Amino acid sequence: MFGKKKQQPQIDATQLELIENAQKRIKQKKRLYAHFVLFLIGCVLLITANTVLGIGKDFTIAGINWFVYAILIWLFLFLYHLFNVFVTHKFMGKAWEQQQLEKLVAKQQIRIDKLKDGFRKEEELKAKSEVFNELNPSENSKPSKTSEITIIVAAAENNAIGLGNKLIWHLSDDLKRFKALTSGHHIIMGRKTFESFPKPLPNRTHVVITRQKDYKAPEGVIIVHSLEDAIDAAKSDKQPFIIGGGQIYKQALSANLVDKIELTRVHEDFEADAFFPELDTSSWKETSNVFNKKDAEHDHEFSFITYERK
Ligand SMILES: NC(=O)c1ccc[n+]([C@@H]2O[C@H](COP(=O)([O-])OP(=O)(O)OC[C@H]3O[C@@H](n4cnc5c(N)ncnc54)[C@H](OP(=O)(O)O)[C@@H]3O)[C@@H](O)[C@H]2O)c1
Repeated sequence: MFGKKKQQPQIDATQLELIENAQKRIKQKKRLYAHFVLFLIGCVLLITANTVLGIGKDFTIAGINWFVYAILIWLFLFLYHLFNVFVTHKFMGKAWEQQQLEKLVAKQQIRIDKLKDGFRKEEELKAKSEVFNELNPSENSKPSKTSEITIIVAAAENNAIGLGNKLIWHLSDDLKRFKALTSGHHIIMGRKTFESFPKPLPNRTHVVITRQKDYKAPEGVIIVHSLEDAIDAAKSDKQPFIIGGGQIYKQALSANLVDKIELTRVHEDFEADAFFPELDTSSWKETSNVFNKKDAEHDHEFSFITYERK
């Protein structure tokens, strides 16, 4: 914790190169400046030697004193030096810029490749975990739905369920089954079905759907104004039952809200004004079917059939 901190280089290779180039450049310019000063002094000395001291006064080429040639040659050398500094060894010239650009592009390409690699690995992991979750559904990966919404209905072969707001038949075993399955649970129903009962059924929480905002019902009966609100009102129940009638069954099935259907199929056709919707058998699998014969208490043959959503 209190150990010596490892020294990290503060500048990278490119920055180092820039600094070295800048230093080199300063030296080049200093040398050029010294050359210029030397050239000026040289010119003065050559002119003085010839004109004041009379050195080589009689030596001319094409009628021009020798020092003029000497100064011109030196001037040419100085110009060559100048050209070298500002043109040939131009600091950060085009080639250098291009080189830096290429280096930068190469670096970025490496980073892009690394990122791509990372994303690929992440995608692979995600795909693997999705497949794993599909094959091993755990508590966490299950949808948050906790209740099994169940329709319970007795319907004839022609799907008749009621006439004049009454049941069409009396089947005591069906009523017993209805009582056994729904006792202790929420029972969701339309207002008409609720009004078909002489009084609320014991040991069940009634949830009645109506559009009437001021609908009055006995204490303990929950009044709601939509099917969704009814399901919400029953959300504490692991298995709320939708018990009818025709309008509510139709809405619940078309909204795909139902997980299970407990159907009592009465094996006859009846005249009716309320019907159960035709079941789309491609969405439902039959998991149980128990046939019941006619007898002293039952005027019709019927079957208890359970469907679960496929
Ligand atoms: N065989 C069986 O298993 C079975 C089971 C249950 C019932 N039944 C029979 O079915 C018949 C009744 O069925 P039904 O279709 O006529 O009536 P229902 O479905 O019981 O009730 C219809 C009423 O529910 C309310 N409602 C419907 N949809 C609504 C929505 N989206 N929002 C708010 N309120 C809504 C309306 O009440 P308001 O008019 O008050 O607004 C509507 O008039 C009766 O004959 C009964 O005996 C048979």
